[in-house]
Amino acid sequence: MVIKIAPSILSADFSRLGEEVEMLDKGGADYIHIDIMDGHYVPNLTFGPIVVKALRDRTQLPFDVHLMMTNPMDYIDDFVHAGSDIITVHAEVLPHLHRAIEQIKQKGVKAAVSLNPSTPLSVLDYVLEDLDMVLLMTVNPGYGGQQFIPAMMNKIRKLRSKADSMNLNLDIQVDGGISLDNIKEVSQAGANIFVAGSAVFNAQNPKEMINQMRKEASGS
Ligand code: DX5
Ligand code: ZN
Repeated sequence: MVIKIAPSILSADFSRLGEEVEMLDKGGADYIHIDIMDGHYVPNLTFGPIVVKALRDRTQLPFDVHLMMTNPMDYIDDFVHAGSDIITVHAEVLPHLHRAIEQIKQKGVKAAVSLNPSTPLSVLDYVLEDLDMVLLMTVNPGYGGQQFIPAMMNKIRKLRSKADSMNLNLDIQVDGGISLDNIKEVSQAGANIFVAGSAVFNAQNPKEMINQMRKEASGS
């Protein structure tokens, strides 16, 4: 699987978001991970489609939009028009998960489903083949800078072996507490797309950090 680094702008300087996105682009990021928080599904509030749209002309990199919202389907169209390339919804809020995935794909963007740490993999049983990516939360969503939950290592392994047994080239993204200290082990467990917020933005040199993280994850 191709290794990708997806820095999260949740840890960026919000007063100069455009420049931060340009910095990530020049620094070799693969995706721009954009955390949308609605103050209901998670306690925190971030930004909406207007901000995503305002950032769109700053980079050609794919916008990886993570919707931590109670009612994501009401906003899919807006986020697509704002320039999203991948839209991730949380399984926990969607009684009609299959329908939600279809709606995202019909808009011509990639569809991903995210699971909180305590949500079992079995909720994906009948939709896995329809997905471009699964996002396994490795912290409880809502804030940057939290600690990776060690029990998630086994969850990643299980999902990769399930995808392999089904012959699926599934992207497995991990989000929360990913750093230079654990990215190699997380990669060996089977993840290939790594969200990193505080690790990148708290680094002395974010560009260097992106490169180092990619090298570690690639085992080179
Ligand atoms: C957490 C968000 C993450 C967050 C990760 O709810 O979904 O994308 O930015 O931040 P770090 O990498 O600092 O754990
Ligand atoms: Zn996220």
